[in-house]
Amino acid sequence: MKALVLAGGSGTRLRPITHTSSKQLVPVANKPILFYGLESIAAAGITEVGVIVGSTAAEIEAAVGDGSAFGLDVTYIPQSEPLGLAHAVLIARPFLGDDDFVMYLGDNFVLDGIGDVVDEFRKNPCDAQILLTRVGDPSAFGVAVTDDQGNVVDLEEKPKAPRSDLAVAGVYLFTPVVHDAVRAIRPSPRGELEITDALQWMIDERMTVRSTVITGYWKDTGNVTDMLEVNRTLLERLQPRVDGFVDEESEIIGRVRIENGAQVRRSRIVGPAIIGAGSVVTDSYVGPSTSVAEDCRISHSEIEYSILLRGASFDGIRRVEASLVGRDVKVTLAPRLPATHRLVIGDHGQVQISS
Ligand code: G1P
Repeated sequence: MKALVLAGGSGTRLRPITHTSSKQLVPVANKPILFYGLESIAAAGITEVGVIVGSTAAEIEAAVGDGSAFGLDVTYIPQSEPLGLAHAVLIARPFLGDDDFVMYLGDNFVLDGIGDVVDEFRKNPCDAQILLTRVGDPSAFGVAVTDDQGNVVDLEEKPKAPRSDLAVAGVYLFTPVVHDAVRAIRPSPRGELEITDALQWMIDERMTVRSTVITGYWKDTGNVTDMLEVNRTLLERLQPRVDGFVDEESEIIGRVRIENGAQVRRSRIVGPAIIGAGSVVTDSYVGPSTSVAEDCRISHSEIEYSILLRGASFDGIRRVEASLVGRDVKVTLAPRLPATHRLVIGDHGQVQISS
């Protein structure tokens, strides 16, 4: 069995972060979201992985390399334009050959991994198997209707009037018949070859598309709110450890990891939180559900429920919450008079000011 991981896509809902970085490489609990998926593929006993890459190919390849760090053998498959999930299957045919495979969307997060569903598919093969999850807003996803045995009888991509609350999660198991399906379908109104249409084609051809409803935690991390939520969930499982330096005037409470080379002085860190290697926190408060990446500077500031990427710095800022802060961003106080905000923000940036 092989795996096909989708790591293209432009990540418009995560702009401006995705102007300069791939959405699959945004870190949660200081590790790129994509790495969790790769680790769960390796844990499911799969080693041959094709990674679909688009305009951010260089960055993905630099981060994942040949896959050996994950125990994987990675082949990169360039997709010239994001033309849909079924298009990714179409162009991956030479890599996939006639093997069964799991397709994994690189910006999806499945807390308990994919080991169980891969085992079930291996023991009990069917034409295709998909993961479903109950959501409050099904119209943002592919939506499935199933019979009482859990076989999918109907699928629709982002329907205005969803016929169930079962959203299609980004993990699909396929036998090679999917290649007939992706060749048979036509682009959707949004101009993409939809994998939901390929699955519907299989259902119409009387093939079996089985489903498993995930009871554990799943998220598509397409936007900032979801990223922060996945970050919070992961930090709750963090193993507390202090490898860096914490002075006697500081207080560390709860699940906190201070990475090697990080320094905490005259500060209060309330977990779950992680302070990355080389970061320095002085005279500050870092509150629950915060991930501070490497080489950040936080001084005379308060920050909570946020993700800071590498090299970000805050000086004199009270108080920041629910924020995703890009690499090397600097947030400092403006001169006291006149009372003013000074902004140098990249395209598509979002700022909410409390005043
Ligand atoms: C894709 C699929 C959709 C699925 C979702 C899961 O949507 O088309 O059926 O529910 O992934 O993340 P997209 O991210 O392309 O909007």
